[in-house]
Amino acid sequence: MQLSEETTKSLAENQQEHLVQFWDELDEQEQSRLQKQIAEIDFALLKKLITKRDQAATEESGADKAKKATSPEQLVRLPQDEDQIEERKKAAQVGNALLASGKVGAILVAGGQGSRLGFDNPKGMYPIGPVSQRTLFEILAEQVLARSQRAGVVIPYFIMTSEATHSSTEKFFEEHEYFGLGQENIFFFQQSSLPAIDDSSHQILLAEKGKVATSPDGHGGMLNALNKHGMLDVMRERGIEHLFYHQVDNPTAIVCDPVLLGLHQQYGSDLTTKVVAKATPEEKMGVLVSINAKTEIIEYSDLPGEEAHRKDEHGQYVFWAGNTAIHVFRREFMESLLEDELSLPFHIAHKKIPHVDSAGISIDPDQPNGNKFEQFIFDALLHAKVALVVEGDRQREFNPVKNASGSDSPETSKAALARIAKEWVTTAGGEVPKNIKVEISPLLALDENDMKEILPDGTVFQKDAVLKN
Ligand code: UD1
Repeated sequence: MQLSEETTKSLAENQQEHLVQFWDELDEQEQSRLQKQIAEIDFALLKKLITKRDQAATEESGADKAKKATSPEQLVRLPQDEDQIEERKKAAQVGNALLASGKVGAILVAGGQGSRLGFDNPKGMYPIGPVSQRTLFEILAEQVLARSQRAGVVIPYFIMTSEATHSSTEKFFEEHEYFGLGQENIFFFQQSSLPAIDDSSHQILLAEKGKVATSPDGHGGMLNALNKHGMLDVMRERGIEHLFYHQVDNPTAIVCDPVLLGLHQQYGSDLTTKVVAKATPEEKMGVLVSINAKTEIIEYSDLPGEEAHRKDEHGQYVFWAGNTAIHVFRREFMESLLEDELSLPFHIAHKKIPHVDSAGISIDPDQPNGNKFEQFIFDALLHAKVALVVEGDRQREFNPVKNASGSDSPETSKAALARIAKEWVTTAGGEVPKNIKVEISPLLALDENDMKEILPDGTVFQKDAVLKN
């Protein structure tokens, strides 16, 4: 097929003609795919990003920011006394009322693949149930369903996918009958991709002779993706005013947590973030801080080692408040961020990017050779008039699956699910002897109080069990 005039023109205008240098070697299908990919490139945006990259040296570094930072100020810590316990109970009531009003939706970001885990499918398909091997998707979706049932309303679930995860995620949910949530209440929306560029030449890299090298635009790409795929309209039509946001990698996140929602509502917050105390100063978590009285996150890759150990006048680590990536957004606040396409800055990653060189040879670089561009959703904090930080219980709420082994691995996450189940059973007067594992479906119990109501007195588990209804 012929290259369209429009494509030829835009490549020439943007000095990216090399993208079609192997055109004649491609079959029709490859040609059409390449042409479509090129048509989707936002060259104007790319130009801005390249300029920004070249100016990056003059911008404030993470180290400079860290020097000015203090621990987060607008903060609700874990309850320390009876009064604070009562306050959390009240917040839970407010949160439950908000859920029952039908004004809450949930967003799951699931654009990442399980590559760090050595898993080829979308991460949500990873089997994590310690007894049943149920997947991350199932545990999270069942939590949404259980909360919906409690609240007596539908909680629509917006699931962000990427080019790499979209069709397999949709298929997986379909095969599992949407885990009972109803197809009409689950909205898959695909985030965009951005081309990767060569370090020195600024040319867009080709992954193959007929394929542009692209990568997802970061979880901050969620804003544009929600807008582009009509999800904000759905939210408005359904009267959704607040969105509970969470990541696919943490099965112990308390999805649609009434306490977090309640505090968010009580403080009139635009953006509320759940934090937990970091396990060590070096732990790879973003940290919530205050800089000039504004709440921000400094990503772990931007926090210099010596700063990470800094303590305040009370001897407490300044950078203790680890970002769990659990947030609540006010919908109107999210919409306001769309007024400027650069309201969330682009972070520039310097990466090894496999590509085809100008001679058509495939190169798998052993040194970083190019740039990828990503937006981070938490940079929205910079625009929030009211931003709230709430401390959660690390053991209970933060047990993510990130690495193939060691910390934050399937092994530690499965062990946490089994530990939490055992704690609930014990609180409810039952017993899980050593070496026995129990797993609890969210549809049966969402916390130890639910467990107290259903577990027959004196239950002792003799073998591994999955408790479900
Ligand atoms: C992330 C946070 C970090 C936080 C930690 C908690 C960032 C940049 N950092 O680190 O501050 O302390 O989680 O666990 O997010 N995703 C997409 N599309 C993308 C990129 C990511 O949907 O383009 C999703 C992934 O599917 C995943 C989540 O975002 O659910 C986190 O991404 P990941 O890159 O794994 O972040 P971490 O390095 O773990």
